[in-house]
Amino acid sequence: MTALLSAHGLGKVYAGTGWRPGAPRPGLADVDLAIEEGECVALIGRSGSGKSTLARLLLGLERPSAGVVRFRGTGLAELDDAGRRAFRSAIQMVLQDPLSAVNPRHTVGRTVAEPLRHLTVLPAAERRARVYALLSLVGLDPSVIARLPSQLSGGQVQRVGLARGLATRPALVVLDEAISNLDAPLQIEILDRLAVLRRAQGTAFLLVTHDIRLARRFADRVVVLDAGRIVDASPCRAKLELGHPAARELVDAVLPAFPAGAS
Ligand SMILES: Nc1ncnc2c1ncn2[C@@H]1O[C@H](COP(=O)(O)OP(=O)(O)OP(=O)(O)O)[C@@H](O)[C@H]1O
Ligand SMILES: [Mg+2]
Repeated sequence: MTALLSAHGLGKVYAGTGWRPGAPRPGLADVDLAIEEGECVALIGRSGSGKSTLARLLLGLERPSAGVVRFRGTGLAELDDAGRRAFRSAIQMVLQDPLSAVNPRHTVGRTVAEPLRHLTVLPAAERRARVYALLSLVGLDPSVIARLPSQLSGGQVQRVGLARGLATRPALVVLDEAISNLDAPLQIEILDRLAVLRRAQGTAFLLVTHDIRLARRFADRVVVLDAGRIVDASPCRAKLELGHPAARELVDAVLPAFPAGAS
């Protein structure tokens, strides 16, 4: 089966970071990762391990220093105009810092409708109906539709970003700490709503997070990045089978929250 999105020997070296071959720490190195249609992969790792870098490379927002990203089998650099358009509509990212990703002068309604205007041919009335459905999906009251980002709470802005990311019914949504600023019950509510969406539409997710509990609740498997490399991986069965110290550190960090014997 051809993967929905895959990374092959992916590497990224940031200029000006003083890195030379042989030195320990590029932004990303030798990453192989395949995300299948409908699959949910959690990408975990400590701060600076390269999670956002990998997400940006997968989205084609940055060029890799090594390796290639393939969308349904075709390298991103080989996509023709129609392929690029299909890619942009199929793969969406929701960012860590949603305020930086929304135009402060655009209302919520306009922000959420933006990808629908650019990437679909939906008539205006259907666009509007879809915006309402998206707001309800992320648990926002329809009354926010005419508000500006400055008139919303941080958590509400984050959900606006999420609604926009889901607008084109993408095949894959990359959530880069996209629900981290929300309180725990809301995080779980949104992940549960996304799980419903996943079952209904076969949407795949790459969930970038520090929070191994959220990863386990939502994902089919967990992949661990450390210092720019994939160092461990486990299916999310009853018990995670992670042995690498970088993975243990993340697991142990939340252990007090697990009732004895529940992990
Ligand atoms: N544009 C850039 N220029 C130079 N170095 C960068 C750039 N972006 C990221 N880096 C470096 O690459 C490494 C990985 O950063 P990245 O943002 O991918 O980590 P992360 O795992 O997403 O961290 P966090 O959990 O804090 O978001 C870090 O050492 C970072 O300083
Ligand atoms: Mg990051």
